[in-house]
Amino acid sequence: MEWRQKISRTAGRVRYTAAQGLRSAWYGGQYALARRRSAGFNRPGEPPFRPTHTPDRRVLQAAFLDLFRHDRANVEAGLYPDPVGIDLDPGRLPQTLRRARQFLADVAEVDRRRLMRDGTEVRRKAPTDLSRFPAYYRQNFHYQTDGWLSEDSAEIYDHQVEALFTGAAAAMRRAALACLAHEVRGHDQRQRRVLDVGCGTGQFMHRTLHGFPRLQLTGLDLSPAYARAARQAVRRWPQAAVEEGQAEAMPFETGSFDTLISIYLFHELPPRIRPLVIAEAARVLRPGGAFIVADSLQFGDNPGLDGVLEYFPEGFHEPYYKGYLSWDFTPEMEACGFHLDSTQNAFLTKVNVWRKAV
Ligand SMILES: C[S@@+](CC[C@H](N)C(=O)[O-])C[C@H]1O[C@@H](n2cnc3c(N)ncnc32)[C@H](O)[C@@H]1O
Repeated sequence: MEWRQKISRTAGRVRYTAAQGLRSAWYGGQYALARRRSAGFNRPGEPPFRPTHTPDRRVLQAAFLDLFRHDRANVEAGLYPDPVGIDLDPGRLPQTLRRARQFLADVAEVDRRRLMRDGTEVRRKAPTDLSRFPAYYRQNFHYQTDGWLSEDSAEIYDHQVEALFTGAAAAMRRAALACLAHEVRGHDQRQRRVLDVGCGTGQFMHRTLHGFPRLQLTGLDLSPAYARAARQAVRRWPQAAVEEGQAEAMPFETGSFDTLISIYLFHELPPRIRPLVIAEAARVLRPGGAFIVADSLQFGDNPGLDGVLEYFPEGFHEPYYKGYLSWDFTPEMEACGFHLDSTQNAFLTKVNVWRKAV
């Protein structure tokens, strides 16, 4: 390697490490503050929560560092742009500070619901007419105020997730972006139709379009407020679209996408809905296309972290997560004509690429 290249690579690594370190400190600090303002994982009058598997701190730290090592390697391999420019955009500072304030202000409410194990307040205090949403959806997931169903919730969702994962959430999603890059590379982006199922506020779509600005990218989400936020996030790319609708009844024609991706959707779904979503994914995907599923690790994926996974349904309202930890995708996927192409762990996330038979 030529010395100029070596210097530029080293400078890139230093910049990356500094930026991700800063990001981690920023979100990790807020997580610590939130924990301090709340009762932690315990509830007064109850014995402290003890997971059945003992979490291994060293494994946790190693997985965290591995995530960023792989992320940097993916940038150097040209799979997606360096996130530093996107993450450290000075123009977004006022927004970032506002969201931090909103996040910390909401902690007391979230903790009140957590102490009372009240994850369905949203059904009683409806921010909108909720009757058109399925019952399983009308909940305060993560004990979040208004569940998925208000502008305020959409405003702070990404911040909450980043704080929960101490700044690692975006990098975990980029592990899925690497898989998407493999699907798209070598093809004319303008001809690749990609669907992000359960796109949330569109952060993944936004990142994807930075790397692949001409991709025919569509998002689907059931939350009107989150779908609106996603439209806002991708407004610079006129070909990108966001639809409101259910993943188990997708408003798209059969075989209309080359690649599907879903991030952190399946663990939020009741077990009876997951096969319906897989069947819909198989319907809207063309033969030979990939369904990239990035979601929480499950038991056994990294045994040293099994105990960490047990904390999520204890600390946050995750009504379907406990069952999800042992739920086997394979029979449902195979029944719909998918086989597993690749699997990889990215800290607390697992990214599986399922290929539809030709
Ligand atoms: C945990 S969030 C994940 C959002 C985003 N993919 C991300 O990476 O952060 C789950 C998202 O799935 C959406 N969702 C849940 N159930 C759904 C369903 N049945 N159909 C469509 N979207 C759904 C929620 O509205 C929410 O935006």
